[in-house]
Amino acid sequence: MSLTLKPRAQVRAKISSVGTYVPPRLLTNADLEKMVDTNDQWIVERTGIRERHLVEPGVATSDLAVEAAKCCLAKRGVDASEVEVIIVATVTPDMLFPATACLVQNKLGAKGAWGFDLSAACSGFPYALQVGAKLIESGMHKKVLVIGADVMSSIIDYTDRATCVIFGDGAGAVLLEPCAADEIGLIDYWHEVDGSGGVALNMPAGGSLHPATAETVAKKMHYVHQDGQTVYKFAVRKMAEAAETVLVRNGLTGSDLSCFIPHQANKRIILSTAERLGMPQDRVVINIDRFGNTTAGTIPLAMQTALDEKRLKKGDLVLLASVGAGFTVGATLLRWEF
Ligand code: UT7
Repeated sequence: MSLTLKPRAQVRAKISSVGTYVPPRLLTNADLEKMVDTNDQWIVERTGIRERHLVEPGVATSDLAVEAAKCCLAKRGVDASEVEVIIVATVTPDMLFPATACLVQNKLGAKGAWGFDLSAACSGFPYALQVGAKLIESGMHKKVLVIGADVMSSIIDYTDRATCVIFGDGAGAVLLEPCAADEIGLIDYWHEVDGSGGVALNMPAGGSLHPATAETVAKKMHYVHQDGQTVYKFAVRKMAEAAETVLVRNGLTGSDLSCFIPHQANKRIILSTAERLGMPQDRVVINIDRFGNTTAGTIPLAMQTALDEKRLKKGDLVLLASVGAGFTVGATLLRWEF
């Protein structure tokens, strides 16, 4: 018997639903003033952040991811049993293994799904989005759940004013499905890694290089360490460069976009990128004031903000952009299809 291969039709992938979740507990700038030597004015002027949400003890990344996923599936009327793949972008997995995607699969009751985690820090969500899209475009899968979720509070030193004011906890999920004949969905992306930047933003211990010991704990090596200035300079340059690369090779300029949805690390980075792209501020989605930097959660949380504010509708041309630890860089061009 000979193997017969059926030709597959060219399939495009689209985002068909968005769901988000942030834990209810708020940490405001006023709260932080009582914890470290900082003040509301410094935090707002330097970052744009006013408050962030934090989990209660015992709540993990998978818990936030599951709530976001449930919300996403419910909006589309899809049962968890129909999900075929779950990709969780995170740098704060519940544990090193099993993958958080496996924990989500179980808690969600997605009995038919396989999945895995993807580690690309603040670019995790756009990277996972492209991997998920390729699984749809291959013709192998029709429902892929892409989740960006982080409990940053689990790796933050709340005595370090340089990092503790920035981060928050949160999650967002999107469902990827094949486009209908008249739809375009995900169009193009540009991703880049510059591993020489690894020293500027990392959590040094807990992996194979520095397994947990009393010494690594005493030296605070299980917390986020950031050289803020170095990351800032790289982010301002590369977020705009990546965005421009995608726009130029598709014959577009910033003014052709309906909506710019950037990673929310610092309001100043976002505004400088938007200015370089020639994007009017009213087309730039900013919600960092309410959530801080939730790492892999920021872009889907910002998508939801755009939907809530009725700034995103079917047919809109949308650009996502991110820079994160690694360094990782990403820009994604897509047409919104719901
Ligand atoms: O999403 C992952 C990627 N991460 C990023 O994109 C973060 C990029 N970096 C940044 O957003 C900014 O560098 C920060 C918001 C982290 C810091 O802002 P900055 O304007 O770069 O401040 P700086 O680190 O240069 O510090 C300026 C001063 C310093 O004091 P001296 O040395 O001038 O006396 C800091 O000690 O501000 C001080 N400082 C603070 N003061 C009050 C640092 N943190 C605080 C604070 N409150 N929370």
